[in-house]
Amino acid sequence: MSLDRMAPDRRAFLGTAGALALSATAFGNIPLRRRDEIRVGLVGCGGRGTGAAVNALNADPAVRLVAMGDWFPDRIERALAGLMEDEGPPATGPDGKPVAGKPSIAERVDVPPERRFSGPTAIDRVLAEDIDIVILTTSPGFRPSHLEKAVAAGKHMFVEKPVAVDTPGLLRVRKACEAAAAKQLVLVSGLCWRYDNGMRATFDAVHKGGIGELRAMQCGYLTGSLWHHGRKPEWNEADYQIRNWLYFNWLSGDHLNEQAIHSLDKLLWARQDQPPAKVVAMGGRQVRTDPKFGHIYDHFSAVYTWPDGVKGFAWCRQMDGCKNDVSDHLFGVDGVCDVFKHSISGAHEWKYTGPSNNMYQTEWDELLAAVRAGRTINNGDYMVKSTMLAIMGRMAAYTGQEVTWERAWESREDLTPASLSDADLKVAPVAMPGITKFV
Ligand SMILES: NC(=O)c1ccc[n+]([C@@H]2O[C@H](COP(=O)([O-])OP(=O)(O)OC[C@H]3O[C@@H](n4cnc5c(N)ncnc54)[C@H](O)[C@@H]3O)[C@@H](O)[C@H]2O)c1
Repeated sequence: MSLDRMAPDRRAFLGTAGALALSATAFGNIPLRRRDEIRVGLVGCGGRGTGAAVNALNADPAVRLVAMGDWFPDRIERALAGLMEDEGPPATGPDGKPVAGKPSIAERVDVPPERRFSGPTAIDRVLAEDIDIVILTTSPGFRPSHLEKAVAAGKHMFVEKPVAVDTPGLLRVRKACEAAAAKQLVLVSGLCWRYDNGMRATFDAVHKGGIGELRAMQCGYLTGSLWHHGRKPEWNEADYQIRNWLYFNWLSGDHLNEQAIHSLDKLLWARQDQPPAKVVAMGGRQVRTDPKFGHIYDHFSAVYTWPDGVKGFAWCRQMDGCKNDVSDHLFGVDGVCDVFKHSISGAHEWKYTGPSNNMYQTEWDELLAAVRAGRTINNGDYMVKSTMLAIMGRMAAYTGQEVTWERAWESREDLTPASLSDADLKVAPVAMPGITKFV
């Protein structure tokens, strides 16, 4: 479908008005229809989506990937080619024990051309297939509508971070997560550190008083620049922006949201998911100034303050040739926790010595175990709050103003373009602190 011929209504292309009518049957706990086969659909066949599909296939020998959707057909074909070559790790079942004769990944990728869907309705077409679980791994701007549709269709979900780029989108996600809980759907978030053995033990130790009363937190996501796919003459502006989504706020929400959310989520985790009261932040665009990088910043620094006065200092940078550092530290009255080293120094010395794991795989092992057992996992609360930490930090940096938690939820800034016409996709100016207004 040509993007130019799509409905011009605002958000229609984000799927608020779905092309296919989806059944919104009020399921109870969704029973698996076939215990011997768990059918998975993938929407967003990029790097992470393909990786998540491999994790799903590795997690349980009954999993079959049966439908794939992407805005661009070439992304589906590329992902499929990669999956067909993937031999997968040694054959183990959900309990980690060897399974004799477990079929390879390629044997369980069953996506004939009639179950490959491209264009804006790919989400609707995948959800209309006979699937139990859907993987939502497009760029984040589409997440609110895709999540709403997945919940309405009664599917279990793997949902990559972040889950929105603005408050109106996040409000929709929050509501959809509540509906998922009411329907007892399994909803696992891609905030993967929550599924890492060492991280789980470390936060547990901190919550049990390992560093005494928490006084301050510091986290950093200082890294190099990311990919850019260039521009091809046959692409219109929508193609170009959706391919290069990192650099456009309606799709990524800037890199504080898209990437550094992993660090912000650890601040939230340290506070046992209690949100901050406010944030003051700064940032800018110092090196990545070429128009091809849209309007996002290349560095941020934010100070979050919790109601009890505890501060979380966060910074992130995407620049080449600089010191890279992805680390988090928690400071308490009795000691300091180096989160990535899984260790505590001070009055109660501690270090995690248990087994390490592949957190991406554990996400799926636990998701599938829950689906099989008829249990519910719903990571909605923290995935919504962490996305809001990122959005409020960006709003504070862009405007130069202090943004409270309450005010952030009242924001009516809707980053969705009015349509996908070239005119409506004109790139907004780079935000100027002190001049850009809070909306
Ligand atoms: N948890 C992690 O460690 C981790 C790592 C990487 C990426 N991610 C997240 O995963 C998501 C995807 O990232 P990626 O690196 O795979 O990006 P990507 O660009 O490789 O893949 C995104 C895919 O989604 C497709 N797409 C975009 N809009 C679509 C729509 N409306 N319908 C169907 N398909 C659509 C694109 O064409 C593309 O193929 C992002 O939210 C990102 O933040 C998480």
